[in-house]
Amino acid sequence: SQSNRNAKLVLLGDMGTGKSSLVLRFVKGQFLEFQESTIGAAFFSQTVSVNNATVKFEIWDTAGQERYHSLAPMYYRGAAAAIIVYDITNSDSFARAKKWVLELQKQGNPNLVMALAGNKCDLEDKRTVTAEEARAYAEENGLFFVETSAKTAVNVNEIFYEIAKRLPTT
Ligand code: GTP
Ligand code: MG
Repeated sequence: SQSNRNAKLVLLGDMGTGKSSLVLRFVKGQFLEFQESTIGAAFFSQTVSVNNATVKFEIWDTAGQERYHSLAPMYYRGAAAAIIVYDITNSDSFARAKKWVLELQKQGNPNLVMALAGNKCDLEDKRTVTAEEARAYAEENGLFFVETSAKTAVNVNEIFYEIAKRLPTT
């Protein structure tokens, strides 16, 4: 049977990790070397088909700069899914991602589908966060984990499709 659903999705993570770039890649198939830092948040929508259903993602791309942190609850409240993004070349951004996970676990919805994206996986020579430590952390916390590259498009559509598959069907 056919079902069409809307799902609010929020991206959270440190500034410069590539949240806007992941959304731009997913929604428009584009990448900008000089993507501007987000102010407040930006809204996008994109529909994906999984099995016999379509999911229209209503995407809130939040600003990672610390001064916008207090706005985040407006964007994750009522969300069905969250993508927490870090940069595999920046260990501080991985630490920040863990703080976002804690905040969502404390204040968010228990049915929230959470994905952890280790972005910039094209920069292997600058890596400081191993896939193994991130995967172990994700497993302990019930998150779906994948490394992505907004630049080369690795795993970008896949992360959104995987989320769509994991959304509750009712
Ligand atoms: P804020 O809006 O400030 O929170 O940042 P953001 O998380 O939205 O990061 P943004 O998408 O603006 O990307 C920051 C910089 O990283 C830009 O110069 C992008 O071109 C670059 N970038 C994003 N994703 C990738 C990637 O997968 N690989 C590489 N090499 N660079 C990337
Ligand atoms: Mg941004």
